[in-house]
Amino acid sequence: MKIPFFKVFLLLLFVTSQALAGRDFYRILQVSKDATTKQIKSAYRKLAKQMHPDKNPDDETATEKFQELALAYEVLSDENKRKKYDKFGEEGLKDEMSGGGGHDPFSSFFGDFFSFNFGGQQQGGERDVPKGDSFVVPLEVTLEEIYSGNFVEIVRHKPVAKETSGTRQCNCRNEMKTTQIGPGRIQMTQQRVCDECPNVKYVTEEKVLEMEVEPGMEEGTDYPFFGEGEPNIDGEPGDLYFKIKILKHKVFERKGLDLYTNVTIPLTDALLGFTIDVVHLDGHKVQIERKQVTWPGARIKKKNEGLPSNENFNLRGNLIVTFDVEFPRGELTEEQKEAISQVLKAKSKPKVYNGLQGY
Ligand SMILES: *[C@@H]1O[C@H](CO)[C@@H](O)[C@H](O)[C@H]1NC(C)=O
Repeated sequence: MKIPFFKVFLLLLFVTSQALAGRDFYRILQVSKDATTKQIKSAYRKLAKQMHPDKNPDDETATEKFQELALAYEVLSDENKRKKYDKFGEEGLKDEMSGGGGHDPFSSFFGDFFSFNFGGQQQGGERDVPKGDSFVVPLEVTLEEIYSGNFVEIVRHKPVAKETSGTRQCNCRNEMKTTQIGPGRIQMTQQRVCDECPNVKYVTEEKVLEMEVEPGMEEGTDYPFFGEGEPNIDGEPGDLYFKIKILKHKVFERKGLDLYTNVTIPLTDALLGFTIDVVHLDGHKVQIERKQVTWPGARIKKKNEGLPSNENFNLRGNLIVTFDVEFPRGELTEEQKEAISQVLKAKSKPKVYNGLQGY
């Protein structure tokens, strides 16, 4: 009887230690071994959204997978831990990780994820917990940031409650008090009852909130930091929302996932054809080549040179270039006029129109 049990125990031990020694955090985060911290953060945020247990109610291992993801992030986003991990594997981190779980390191960056977690509870609303005010702060971002994505640090001066001397009344509520005022007569009165709590005062503390401007984010998107709003002594703090406001760009204009720009070309290019490079938002060059004649208002569509979709990473918009033609000024000589009329042999007559009808 004892031997099989022992065998099972050994097997279990083996399986557990295997699991501990062999996890590939890079694979879990779907990044390469030389990924930058920015790429790691970005990958984590993306995967955390997809793999959140609330979003995968049918998957029994969802919580486990989510915790594994968080652990992989905790290690790879910390320079020291990552170094150790690269050298010794998960084994090498035993001392530091003994606390297990440890969601402290995320609290600033992932405030919004945790609220994902607890959102359900807050909505429940059976307890009548007072809540501080929530507010919305516009956050201006450039079109470059929307194109490539970026991490933005926002320093927030936040009032934090600290204990101080004395007490204050708290948890006040109305209670019914019953008093006997004579035989067979009782009187019920409502009384306000409070507890004594330690006194608090607000001290302003600096806190850095980090948010990701995700590629393709829409104008007006709310980016929540739950619990970062106005504090409430007796209850929960309100929330803080950043609302994305995209600054106007000098060269590009956004419409959905498409980018629009204008290019003015000289008349000779318009007639003879041309090759130009448009410098894109991340500095890469988009080459436009044309052999045909280009008229003012002509449009060229460059596929997949628009913004990436925030929902579907394989989807990109287009870049649409509208051309304008710059005509030379002054008057041509008789010979030039003759030569040009030879070449062009104008076929159509001038048309007079009021601009309302299409042409
Ligand atoms: C391109 O030119 C049109 C017409 O002048 C203008 O309405 C549009 O805003 C311009 N687009 C950009 C990106 O400057």
